[in-house]
Amino acid sequence: RKRCFRISTGSKQWDSILNEGFQSCSINEVYGEFRCGKTQLSHTMAVIAQLPKEKGGAEGRVAVIDTEGTWRPERIVQISERFGIDSNAANENILYVRAENSEDQHEQLCGLAEPFASGQYRLLIIDSIMTHFRNDFHGRGELNERQGKLGQHLRKLSQMAEEFNITVLIINQVQSDPGASALFASADGRKPIGGHVLAHASTTRILLRKGRGEERVAKVIDSPDCAEKEATYIITTGGIND
Ligand code: GTP
Ligand code: MG
Repeated sequence: RKRCFRISTGSKQWDSILNEGFQSCSINEVYGEFRCGKTQLSHTMAVIAQLPKEKGGAEGRVAVIDTEGTWRPERIVQISERFGIDSNAANENILYVRAENSEDQHEQLCGLAEPFASGQYRLLIIDSIMTHFRNDFHGRGELNERQGKLGQHLRKLSQMAEEFNITVLIINQVQSDPGASALFASADGRKPIGGHVLAHASTTRILLRKGRGEERVAKVIDSPDCAEKEATYIITTGGIND
């Protein structure tokens, strides 16, 4: 595992619970309720990945698979300013693809093997992993088929992470069950979707939640080499910060 590296989140406290960032050659999953900063983390790391190693980066290009239409090049401009890098170059170093449905998402992923073969890419972001899989398959009747297709997608993802020495960041949502009683609402609201198939594929899982005021909290849920610690962070114009 000598060649593996880590990419910073933009927050020193968050990095500290991850042994200095999200690791390459593996799938890192960040999940949590809306407005916790999942998409902001994606933008921040897309800039940091391009920075030199001493600044938490990996001096590499970035690929983004967007399923929700929430990617904003203007945010990359603002975050680049914080880190003092050329914002046009930063956007040019990001290969953006929009996935229209789950099948397209898988095809787009397979299509990235070609640019990744250049050896220049160090980060792949999928925001978010389950949107289409959730929309394209309905009810219990199609659950097996969905999980089968999802498993295939995730196997490809982890194989590519290893082969090309890339940090994979996947964004996920939490279960929302309006039928659940208020008593269990908070517990139910903190389970990621995707079932065992996704749980098995993710090497490291991070739960995000809102804290006091503007504060947000990241918690390590499942990791082979990090304790289940919490860290606070904030969302700024320059991205994720302390
Ligand atoms: P969903 O995709 O809806 O599940 O949410 P998310 O977790 O992806 O949330 P997102 O990353 O979009 O974070 C939204 C939060 O970021 C909001 O509270 C915004 O106010 C904040 N935010 C977005 N852009 C900026 C910015 O330029 N400056 C500051 N200070 N905050 C921002
Ligand atoms: Mg989002």
